[in-house]
Amino acid sequence: MFEKNRIITIANQKGGVGKTTTAINLATALAAIGERVLVVDLDPQGNASTGLGIDRRTRKLSSYDLLVGTNSVAEVAVPTAVPNLDIVASTMDLLGFEMEVANSANRVFFLRNALQADDARYSYILVDCPPSFNLLTMNAMAAAHSVLVPLQCEFFALEGLSQLLDTVNQIRGTVNPTLDIQGIVLTMFDSRNNLAQQVVNDVRTHLGEKVYHTLIPRNVRVSEAPSYGKPAILYDLKCAGSQAYLQLASEVIQRERLRKAA
Ligand SMILES: Nc1ncnc2c1ncn2[C@@H]1O[C@H](COP(=O)(O)OP(=O)(O)O)[C@@H](O)[C@H]1O
Ligand SMILES: [Mg+2]
Repeated sequence: MFEKNRIITIANQKGGVGKTTTAINLATALAAIGERVLVVDLDPQGNASTGLGIDRRTRKLSSYDLLVGTNSVAEVAVPTAVPNLDIVASTMDLLGFEMEVANSANRVFFLRNALQADDARYSYILVDCPPSFNLLTMNAMAAAHSVLVPLQCEFFALEGLSQLLDTVNQIRGTVNPTLDIQGIVLTMFDSRNNLAQQVVNDVRTHLGEKVYHTLIPRNVRVSEAPSYGKPAILYDLKCAGSQAYLQLASEVIQRERLRKAA
């Protein structure tokens, strides 16, 4: 596949595990380091778009137009308040995508085709997925170089994860043989909760080096930021959540360096 950029899909079929928060803040952190970053919001709910300050009323072209091929990346991407960070916003049109393309032989390749046409304006493209294994998520996995999985530190985390890893294996066996796991990031960690520490230990035991060292803490500043249309890193750079996402970005970049060197 093409090596001019890295396409990372942020996926987990469960809702509320920190996908969108990770997409927004990892993208911001990568942009702050000087990478040229694009977020593609593939969730009809559009939380990544709202959280990056793109008002629903101002959204004209969207990820739907990109998917169906009526518009290019350059035409649908809009700048955010973060230098170096653009977004392809989502609109409710996305809800119709699955039905419209269900009978197409290429139904999982729409996003890949659209992103392949991008002529290297971005070094990282992060795709924020909806909370299910639907055709939008399949498109995101078929288009990506790797999958980054946010995992909430709670009791059923591992159970959902094995389902997700099975799905990644299926995609690898069919439409995207080089799809990699970029890593698993533990989110909303609460050090006062004994169970959370237990979950961290279990996940590290089972998945070893695939799990990032960075733990994203549960942090009220992180949850407040989207209501101001800002990434946590702009809203409160010093808070523990922002600092954790900056650390995660350096781990992601480190992994990419190691991969390139290999
Ligand atoms: N580290 C965190 N600390 C506190 N709240 C968080 C954190 N990460 C996410 N949240 C909150 O949890 C909720 C779900 O997060 P979100 O990123 O939208 O999950 P998903 O995209 O997987 O559905 C949101 O209200 C978000 O603000
Ligand atoms: Mg989300």
